[in-house]
Formats: sequence, C-alpha cells, structure tokens
Amino acid sequence: MKSKPIKQGDHMGKFPILTSSNDGNSAALKDILQLYVEEGQVIADVTYGKGVFWKDIDVDLYNFAASDIQTGVDFKK
Ligand SMILES: C[S@@+](CC[C@H](N)C(=O)[O-])C[C@H]1O[C@@H](n2cnc3c(N)ncnc32)[C@H](O)[C@@H]1O
Repeated sequence: MKSKPIKQGDHMGKFPILTSSNDGNSAALKDILQLYVEEGQVIADVTYGKGVFWKDIDVDLYNFAASDIQTGVDFKK
C-alpha cells in the first residue's frame, strides 16, 4: 500500500521513528522520503535504471525526474 508522506517535522513527539532497517532498497527509500522529503519537492534519480527502488512509492506526489545512461543521460556530464 502506498502511504502519503508526512510533512517534514510533523512526526516530532508523535510516534517513534526507526532509523535503521534491514528491509530492501524500496522499503528503505520509502522511509527516507517520509523523514526528509515533503510532497511536491523535486527528486531526481539520475541512475533510475528500471526504477526498482521506486516500486512502492507514489512518485506522483513529488516533482519526480528519472534519467539514466541507458536512456541517454550521463550524470557525469
Ligand atoms: C543499481 S541501478 C540504480 C537503481 C535504480 N535507481 C532503481 O530505482 O532501481 C544503477 C543504474 O545506474 C546507471 N548508471 C551507471 N552509470 C551512470 C551514469 N554515468 N549516468 C547515468 N546513469 C548511470 C545504470 O545504467 C543503472 O541503471
């Protein structure tokens, strides 16, 4: 299930936050976004590949840009 990100700072004193995880990349990224990124903010994954890290995340909540060298964009340039 996709969850709506909490507003940055809204969690203060309301619930505990786990700061370590042994889940996979997608679950960890979801937690990271909830902690640090507000809805509408710009996110660029410049090594998007097949987007596996994003499979549990509703990228429509963000200003999301995906690129990869496989689609012609080398992040070193
Ligand atoms: C581990 S995958 C990234 C996983 C991805 N972010 C996801 O959500 O599944 C690494 C990716 O980096 C890309 N890559 C490697 N060198 C790059 C470069 N110089 N510029 C852009 N993409 C690059 C590869 O094509 C590959 O798709």
